[in-house]
Amino acid sequence: DQSGLAYSVGTTLDRFIKSKQSDFPFASGELSQLLRDIALASKIVNRETNRAGLSNIGGAFGQTNIQGEEQQKLDIIANIRFIRALSKGGEVCAIVSEEEDAVIDLQNKSGKYVVAIDPLDGSSNIDVNISIGTIFSIYRRKTQVGSPIQKEDIMQPGTEQVASGYVLYGSSTMLVYTTGFGVNGFTYEQSLGEFFLSHPCIKSPEDGQIYSINEGTQDEWELGIKDYIDTCKSRKYSARYIGSLVADFHRNLLKGGIYLYPATQKNPNGKLRLLYEANAMAFIAEQAGAVATDGNRRILEIKPESLHQRTPLFIGSKKMVEEAMTLASVSI
Ligand code: AHG
Ligand code: MN
Ligand code: MN
Ligand code: MN
Repeated sequence: DQSGLAYSVGTTLDRFIKSKQSDFPFASGELSQLLRDIALASKIVNRETNRAGLSNIGGAFGQTNIQGEEQQKLDIIANIRFIRALSKGGEVCAIVSEEEDAVIDLQNKSGKYVVAIDPLDGSSNIDVNISIGTIFSIYRRKTQVGSPIQKEDIMQPGTEQVASGYVLYGSSTMLVYTTGFGVNGFTYEQSLGEFFLSHPCIKSPEDGQIYSINEGTQDEWELGIKDYIDTCKSRKYSARYIGSLVADFHRNLLKGGIYLYPATQKNPNGKLRLLYEANAMAFIAEQAGAVATDGNRRILEIKPESLHQRTPLFIGSKKMVEEAMTLASVSI
């Protein structure tokens, strides 16, 4: 079809996951089931998101999370939905969530996997009908299945992820994930209730012309960040910043660009959380040929010390991240 408008039903997410099971010759299919559980919960959250304006689930919930952020009703709803799906599925033994102070030990006798999740990313965009997301990381537990969860099961560096992904509730809803064999993206077909493979084998452009940073905090940056952003401007790059990491990252991944959340005076370690924001995105970035650092080191190699630990994040097209790091290190 020359118009490009032909409607073709291709590979469903379920079928794709099944076809990839051979990537894990010794696995028993639990990771596949876990990915399906996440996809199911994301369909429910997608439904809630789509009708948020109609069903009185907009606005603040009236409490703050452990990081002092005001929780939105949809933060809470998404948190409940994902926790429910993950605990019912049976493959998961523990959950780390942005909206939970402590680790949830599901006391599941057979669960092999630990999940870290940002159930609803981009909270400030919920009430204004702008793209939001979900971010997840999956690890294999280190200690014996069936025993109480230990610190070493949770505090794993990002290099240990067995899968990670995000859901983007945008102009269409997409699920993008990796199990360490490249990155694939699926678009949700609402009327069929299925995700279909729409973006096979995503590769990040090596260079780009988009920069994404909250420039309102410029006075709080180290000089090197300012130098890098000035360089972007001198080259007439485009500024694009939605304020939902998932959406900003996704755009830059497909088009070529850099996303920066540097250290600021207010947030000396940046704002984004290592366990359920930076690591998942870093795994996807690397699998797509992009780069993720904290300005000095690879995100995936940072050894976590606390559950809600923050990290500066420089993520995106390889050449851009490398240049930003060079400038940032020169003028420290
Ligand atoms: P969350 O809504 O899960 O708390 O995450 C918000 C994060 C991230 O999505 C976004 O990129 C960033 O906060 C925006 O922060 P600023 O408003 O400080 O730019
Ligand atoms: Mn939050
Ligand atoms: Mn977030
Ligand atoms: Mn969140």
